[in-house]
Amino acid sequence: MTIELVDGDITALPVDAIVNAANNSLLGGGGVDGAIHRAAGPQLLEECRGLKGCETGDAKITKAYRLPSKFIIHTVGPIWRGGQGGEERLLASCYQRCFALAANHQIATVALPAISTGVYGFPKEKAAHIAVAETRKAFAAYPSLQRVIFTCFNAESRRAYELALGEAEC
Ligand code: APR
Repeated sequence: MTIELVDGDITALPVDAIVNAANNSLLGGGGVDGAIHRAAGPQLLEECRGLKGCETGDAKITKAYRLPSKFIIHTVGPIWRGGQGGEERLLASCYQRCFALAANHQIATVALPAISTGVYGFPKEKAAHIAVAETRKAFAAYPSLQRVIFTCFNAESRRAYELALGEAEC
């Protein structure tokens, strides 16, 4: 069971599943959501329409269409509003739900963006710490989960994960 950091665009990764940082409508948007919908093609939006949205902290799974991965797990992270509104619990819930869906679908390798740390403004280091902690819990809970890849779209994200992984090792 490994955690890896990979720089660049999540849509190019030939893994079992990639995670999308979506919004409650699941009907696409900017950031990684926009990139995933553009790369997957219009059939993704068709399937998403049938899902009737997604609660913040929850996750839903679709096919990946034109992407090299097999599945897309769409999750909706919290908007950071200062940390007094349960944002950390909701972000942890995103990871818990994504890994539970992966386990239900016998998915061994999952790539994830830094959920909520872009448009939604979640502090990157706090988010990375939550991501690493929830991944280690998922490895203990789901033997089928073998590889988790955190995609770093900028240097700040990579640094945040390196710090969080360093904490987790000592
Ligand atoms: N591949 C990997 N990571 C990416 C990509 C990409 N192609 N594009 C952006 N990112 C990174 C961002 O740099 C950030 O670190 O994904 C992380 C999440 O940022 P956002 O995509 O802005 O997602 P989020 O902060 O969760 O906000 C979600 O933004 O795009 C809309 O519809 C989406 O309303 C939702 C909101």
